[in-house]
Amino acid sequence: LARGTAAPDLAGRHVVISAGGTREPLDPVRFLGNRSSGKQGYALARTAAARGARVTLIAANTALPDPAGVDVVRVGTAVQLREAVLKSATDADAVVMAAAVADFRPAAYASGKIKKQDGQEPAPVVLVRNPDVLAEISADRPREGQVVVGFAAETDDVLANGRAKLRRKGCDLLVVNEVGEQKTFGSEENEAVILASDGGETAVPYGPKEALADVIWDQVTSRLTQRRA
Ligand code: CTP
Ligand code: CA
Repeated sequence: LARGTAAPDLAGRHVVISAGGTREPLDPVRFLGNRSSGKQGYALARTAAARGARVTLIAANTALPDPAGVDVVRVGTAVQLREAVLKSATDADAVVMAAAVADFRPAAYASGKIKKQDGQEPAPVVLVRNPDVLAEISADRPREGQVVVGFAAETDDVLANGRAKLRRKGCDLLVVNEVGEQKTFGSEENEAVILASDGGETAVPYGPKEALADVIWDQVTSRLTQRRA
């Protein structure tokens, strides 16, 4: 579909997309974070809006302009992201977890800036697990028939890891891409394989993140029409 002439095949649908990367604070000035730019999630939001959807974009620490006609909810941490996604997903037809959610957060938050102590080695940073939003939503869908999509960035054994992750998470679709120092993070383009829980496998060649987004929406709409014609 050419940009601007998209068929309104998501009209009447509400889609929730998480984008960006969570930051887990250590103290008022420091955090544990990741390199997700949010561009793929924003491309998903723009293309869904162009196809007629009502779009809620849960944006974690992104520095991108708000897409026109999209409800943007800003969050910082994984716990905040979970709350925002669960709240907006209650009436959503599809939830797409494009955000890079930190697996761990510091067990303790220092309300004052952590200072060096003369002659002392630093204390180790103790981490605890964050909630797994994708697994939670997949196991207990906030709305019946909802289509749930995850993303996975892998560095090794990309497809084997992707298939195992799809089963573990319990989502309908998992968009798997290979990452490395020069690949994907912050770039305008992406290539991926979309793995489906029904065994389907769709390779999307290297190209704009909008093109990958449109293939994802094609797969989501076909599942929505099967479930609720
Ligand atoms: N995800 C999530 N909550 C988490 C971690 C990840 O919802 N706490 C979602 C991501 O948004 C993504 C998918 O799960 O859509 C896969 O993330 P990934 O980090 O690849 O999966 P993990 O199960 O955390 O596996 P790994 O140990 O490889 O990081
Ligand atoms: Ca992870």
